[in-house]
Amino acid sequence: MAQTWTPNSWRQKPIQQVPDYPDLAVLDSVEARLAKYPPLVFAGEARRLKSALANVADGRGFLLQGGDCAESFAEHGADTIRDFFRAFLQMAVVLTFGAQQPVVKVGRIAGQFAKPRSSGVEKQGDVTLPSYRGDIINGIEFTEEARVPNPERQVMAYRQSAATLNLLRAFAMGGYANLENVHQWMLGFVKDSPQAERYRKLADRISETMDFMKAIGITAENHPSLRETDFFTSHEALLLGYEQALTRVDSTSGDWYATSGHMIWIGDRTRQPDHAHIEYCRGIKNPLGLKCGPSLTADGLLELIDILNPANEAGRLTLICRFGHDKVAEHLPRLIRAVEREGKKVVWSCDPMHGNTITLNNYKTRPFERILSEVESFFQIHRAEGSHPGGIHIEMTGNDVTECTGGARALSGDDLADRYHTHCDPRLNADQALELAFLLAERMKGGRDEKKMVVNG
Ligand code: TRP
Ligand code: MN
Repeated sequence: MAQTWTPNSWRQKPIQQVPDYPDLAVLDSVEARLAKYPPLVFAGEARRLKSALANVADGRGFLLQGGDCAESFAEHGADTIRDFFRAFLQMAVVLTFGAQQPVVKVGRIAGQFAKPRSSGVEKQGDVTLPSYRGDIINGIEFTEEARVPNPERQVMAYRQSAATLNLLRAFAMGGYANLENVHQWMLGFVKDSPQAERYRKLADRISETMDFMKAIGITAENHPSLRETDFFTSHEALLLGYEQALTRVDSTSGDWYATSGHMIWIGDRTRQPDHAHIEYCRGIKNPLGLKCGPSLTADGLLELIDILNPANEAGRLTLICRFGHDKVAEHLPRLIRAVEREGKKVVWSCDPMHGNTITLNNYKTRPFERILSEVESFFQIHRAEGSHPGGIHIEMTGNDVTECTGGARALSGDDLADRYHTHCDPRLNADQALELAFLLAERMKGGRDEKKMVVNG
């Protein structure tokens, strides 16, 4: 029988990736303060996301999840949020219109601050300092002072998340996401890119459809679904003290929810079944993501599914697969077969970023061809196995950065130095993200037409 769960039962378990806070009394007092602050999201919203994801698990719809690898305090500003959101909306509209499936929109934003690291220390020359673990924990500057974990940063992350979420809610519900604005979401620097023409054509068709609907009386004024969109937030639930402080009972259902974001995920480094991160996540009712890397066995996955989703509830669990373009064919089929055999309900999502990181000219980068190649394989494998390729999980920004090589503008290794701004992993820029969306829409459409043929044939 499962042990009783409480918001702090994870503290009894072994744990990975814990910052070395110099003063635990200060940490406690910050967590106690956070525990009194208002929740960032509401249980009802998390339930709404879960039911949208349940449709995806059943083969109806697609999950688009993306945002920064790590949000930063320094880049917190209205323009960054707006540019991310419009790039994201462009992707969403390309997928919805191109593939004619509902798209569940989940940002890696308003809480994505804590980073797992492969090493606890970073060496530069003959200086060794603690690794940077994300702005919620310590500073990125390579100085002794900046690298000391500071609990007060949790309050700053909470406040930044609240302000970010506030603006996102305004954009999603207040008119910015209105389909009548579909042309205006084009970003300045994308305007003269190879994707721009393609996007403009699609936007023209949407405008024409909207004009037709207006003529017959269906307008954005009388149909909120044309002018509003459901946008949800997500992050890796890595810093459990922070998560616990924001874990609250929902008064309508009596259930516990993480209120730091709508969906939270468990990283590939912290998914040991008897450890703290799995313990925390099993007790909250939010939709969960689980990162699945090459070391995950089929039995290991089934064990985790039983812990995290014992009732086999559709929409509860999204498997975010991150194998690498050259490993996905080796690992994904065995996991799909095990899950299908046991009749487990999951959303299959593809993270084509994390298994495809290389170092070029001293920059961590990701070749766009490898990202596309992993996505292609993901779709092919699902088609072959008869399962639903349900989503994509990407690191992206609305800014014109040069962090991933390739794409229609053919960024080279020498271009990386131009605008390499990420605080952690390299992100797709808006142009590359849009290119990926067009490819996804084609693949999704292909799958649907094939299914129709089977049904009709
Ligand atoms: N409400 C619908 C949806 O979210 C349609 C929609 C409105 C939409 N604004 C959008 C779709 C922006 C994509 C992007 O799917
Ligand atoms: Mn990352």
